[in-house]
Amino acid sequence: MKHILVTGGAGLLAHQLKKIAPPDFNFSFLGHAEFDLTNKDLMAQRLAAWQPQVVINTAAYNLVDRCETERELSWSVNATGPEALAKLCAEKNIRLVHYGTDYVFDGAKKSPYVETDAANPLNHYAAGKFAGEQAVLRAAPQHLVLRTSWVFGRHPTQTKSFVHTILKAAREGRALKATTDQISVPTCAPDLAQWTLELIRQEAGGLFHAVNDEGVSRFDWAKIILEEAAAAKLIPAVPPVEPVLSSFFNSTMRRPDYTVMSNEKLSRLLGRELGSWRSGLKKMLAQMK
Ligand SMILES: NC(=O)c1ccc[n+]([C@@H]2O[C@H](COP(=O)([O-])OP(=O)(O)OC[C@H]3O[C@@H](n4cnc5c(N)ncnc54)[C@H](OP(=O)(O)O)[C@@H]3O)[C@@H](O)[C@H]2O)c1
Repeated sequence: MKHILVTGGAGLLAHQLKKIAPPDFNFSFLGHAEFDLTNKDLMAQRLAAWQPQVVINTAAYNLVDRCETERELSWSVNATGPEALAKLCAEKNIRLVHYGTDYVFDGAKKSPYVETDAANPLNHYAAGKFAGEQAVLRAAPQHLVLRTSWVFGRHPTQTKSFVHTILKAAREGRALKATTDQISVPTCAPDLAQWTLELIRQEAGGLFHAVNDEGVSRFDWAKIILEEAAAAKLIPAVPPVEPVLSSFFNSTMRRPDYTVMSNEKLSRLLGRELGSWRSGLKKMLAQMK
């Protein structure tokens, strides 16, 4: 039986992996303190003790704005930590699955990004994540990197995804604003977990864009969340959303405006369409009733 060690065991994607864990895989989920990406000795000890065949690294420093101020810490979690883990795994012939981000692109292309497009990170989060994924890919050809975007899904305690934020604001009757000039692909965490397991079964390595079906602006994404939430009777009616530009939020951090990624390479390998985020959203909302 394949033994799979999952880091970031308390996070969103780890939770979804736990939910779909098939009986022929033996999973161990280790949280932040038990498997700290900034502690190479601890990681080596854990790998020696658990002896997995595969490590799925869902751990990351995901607070994009805070990466600008917590530069050293975020770099050690997103860049040097995955590099050290990838080398440890390569030494022990363990396959590492790691996750990257659409933010590695600068947004200039304006048509879906493919895996061979050049990256150009605009902020510290993106630069750290890019350095991490590249180090993983360099460490061993069997290592797998899945770049994803705008991940959403149910979690027993975590309510920080965009879907939760929009629903909470609507329920509290707060005025809603969302950007029209940030465009990416929402990705349903249960789908991402499912693709991960299929790729492990196929022993796939290399870089893939792992996203659902089509690009949408934050503004349209917010409106669709509210429409579906009203249809699912989670809110009484669809409140108005004010369209704004990113500049409205006065952030000093640069964000790419267009980071839609094409999932064609992954879809071809799995031999099927990768599904729509809208149906993933409907399923998530149905479970929230
Ligand atoms: N969510 C998205 O929209 C999105 C978009 C693009 C890419 N991704 C990537 O997809 C992957 C999975 O994301 P997710 O949404 O499941 O993330 P998540 O819910 O934020 O989970 C990440 C986990 O990493 C843990 N962690 C933080 N620092 C750590 C460290 N030094 N050592 C070990 N664990 C640490 C966190 O624990 P604590 O909370 O206890 O610190 C948290 O439980 C990540 O690589 C992420 O960068 C996500």
